[in-house]
Amino acid sequence: MSLFHALVPAAGFGARMGHELPKQYLPLTGKPLIFHALSTLCACPKISTVFVVLAPDDTLFHSFDWSALGDKLQPLYCGGVTRAESVLNGLLAAELEADDWVLVHDGARPCLTQLLLDKLLVELCNDDTGGILAVPVADTLKCADQQQRISSTQDRAGLWQAQTPQMFRARLLVQALQQSNRVTDEASAIEALGLKPRLVLSDSTNFKVTYPQDLLLAEVLLQRR
Ligand code: CTP
Ligand code: MG
Repeated sequence: MSLFHALVPAAGFGARMGHELPKQYLPLTGKPLIFHALSTLCACPKISTVFVVLAPDDTLFHSFDWSALGDKLQPLYCGGVTRAESVLNGLLAAELEADDWVLVHDGARPCLTQLLLDKLLVELCNDDTGGILAVPVADTLKCADQQQRISSTQDRAGLWQAQTPQMFRARLLVQALQQSNRVTDEASAIEALGLKPRLVLSDSTNFKVTYPQDLLLAEVLLQRR
């Protein structure tokens, strides 16, 4: 039987956050930001291992207490210069079985719920390709010119915003990332193989903490739960 593993890239620096501490370690409800995503993944009974991919020179991870997360958590110090490289390095270091499922989840999405995670697992576990959590685009989309004026309006029908986790078979994902190393998510690499990952309906609470105001939103949301 195929196992399910999570892999959390957390080797970035968080340049858009503009803080001297890497984004994944900024305090959120009294814990480092990545604690929240790792905690949800570790608490899911269907997931066997939770790999967290750290920068090779990361000195902060071990300064926190992760014991509340149990023994599923495995740090891998093999992050690369891009997110795609961190994911590929992590997958190679994890040495998974070809048919095992991997759920790649941004360390910077702390508000993932057990409900959305389980929905993804249930909807995709018999899928031939795999897929991702995503939400249909809600706002009207504008194309900008060089002067930051609207040059056209994009029809939003059929457009979705990609989130994570993104769930694929381990061997397929390694093969896909080895062939396309300039992608910003796993699904793009799978698409480049000519496959069509499934879109599993999520909601806007599973947002990525990118800018300082996102941290405040995440704090409010997690406190309310
Ligand atoms: N990530 C990674 N390795 C990299 C770059 C990013 O593992 N070389 C991880 C980040 O740590 C984060 C996730 O990928 O958990 C999503 O990336 P993003 O939100 O863009 O984080 P950063 O790259 O750290 O932020 P920024 O782009 O603002 O610098
Ligand atoms: Mg980035």
